[in-house]
Amino acid sequence: MLTLGIETSCDETAIGIIEDKKILANLVSSQIAHTKFGGVVPELAARNHIKIIMPLTNVALEIAKKKLEDVDLFSVTRGPGLIGALLVGLSFAKSLAIALDKPVIGINHLEGHIYALHLEKQSPQYPYLVLLVSGGHTEVVLVRKEFDYETLGKTVDDACGEAFDKVAKLLGFPYPGGPYIEEHAKDGRLSAIKFPVPKPKEFNFSYAGLKTAVLYYTRDNPNYMRDDVAVNFQEVAIEHLIQVVSRAIESTKVKYFGIVGGVSVNKRLRHRFSLLAKEMGIRLHIPGLQHCTDNGVMIALAGAQRFEKFGPSDLSVDAVAREALDKIRH
Ligand code: KG4
Ligand code: ZN
Repeated sequence: MLTLGIETSCDETAIGIIEDKKILANLVSSQIAHTKFGGVVPELAARNHIKIIMPLTNVALEIAKKKLEDVDLFSVTRGPGLIGALLVGLSFAKSLAIALDKPVIGINHLEGHIYALHLEKQSPQYPYLVLLVSGGHTEVVLVRKEFDYETLGKTVDDACGEAFDKVAKLLGFPYPGGPYIEEHAKDGRLSAIKFPVPKPKEFNFSYAGLKTAVLYYTRDNPNYMRDDVAVNFQEVAIEHLIQVVSRAIESTKVKYFGIVGGVSVNKRLRHRFSLLAKEMGIRLHIPGLQHCTDNGVMIALAGAQRFEKFGPSDLSVDAVAREALDKIRH
């Protein structure tokens, strides 16, 4: 089955084509128009998706050596995300489905990220725990079996990636700032500054306090070293994830654990979690770098799997700004 995945929930226009589990094309066009604003401008994102989505699809089909008529299923992100941006992808997918008389399926973006784990040769076995760390979400989820999720905890304020982006902005780096923090952290002195590790309840996360601690530090120390701030912020941000996740692993007694979402690109995070996995005797799964950040192949795979079990979505499938993993409506 040939599935075309469409992702437009934020500022990345992404098209992925898979044949069963084989990736034939994976194209991501990141919008740089937002850099000068220091964050994503929703209206601008939607307009840019409109411009790029058709040419990007054509190039993806060319790479896959397929024609539009060959596609068996159109899988598209329906939320959570920016409504205007989501509507571009959804309308595009529905139009193609109607014109070609093919099924369409609306996919939850977070479920898409989780399916990035199943694009790898070795995917986790059920039940497994997954940490989703992106620009919009930070949550720890128990995947009991396919399509059966229990959100154990989530951020009570900022997402982890959002904190990376806000701290990066404070330090004068462009948006999105996560990669700049990681790069500059390499030259920073660990322990030159002591930021507090957040301590929210149970399996929840919180990044607002850490972000404010960085803000106060830079305000009170005008001659601060950027690299020192970067490395110490990064270390505490990761330490917070480690502490919550190790509690969740202990409590659920899972044997498999995955990390997905844009922040899982971070090498320091990968290293710290691989040590934790060894220590706790569990199997760690992290997608390849190109499948951590937003992409179309993860949406294609989630769509293909859901379609097999539940069939297509109704053509009235709509965009949703929010939708928790354990509340997915089909
Ligand atoms: O999953 P994603 O592509 O989009 C969302 O669904 O949000 O994640 C984007 C987030 C941004 O906040 C970005 O700064 C962060 O992932 N990110 C990183 C790194 N690369 C991307 N954070 C830390 N270190 C990185 N190397
Ligand atoms: Zn994402």
